[in-house]
Amino acid sequence: MPPWTRRSVRSSSRGGGLLNELSEFHRSGTFTLVVDDQQYQVPHACPHRDGWLIHGTINEKRKSITCPLHFSVFSLETGEQLSGPPCGRLEVKRLTPGVL
Ligand code: FES
Repeated sequence: MPPWTRRSVRSSSRGGGLLNELSEFHRSGTFTLVVDDQQYQVPHACPHRDGWLIHGTINEKRKSITCPLHFSVFSLETGEQLSGPPCGRLEVKRLTPGVL
């Protein structure tokens, strides 16, 4: 069996079990980012192909996040997709300071 098959991928969330379904890579819910004292609620999953945005790159000056999978860039202020493969907007939410 070639080494790059999914049998070689282990999941820590299943106690070291094997990943059998693509859906096992999906992370639902949101996380919170703070950029220049402003809090943003950001979905874990990129709207393109569920890239894990928690591993994305933040551009503080532009107030954007870049998906680590195919490099879509989204505005943290509006959720608008600024570049990358067409997939629509990101459901970001600007939080009032002190509200999580
Ligand atoms: S999964 Fe995020 S750009 Fe493709």
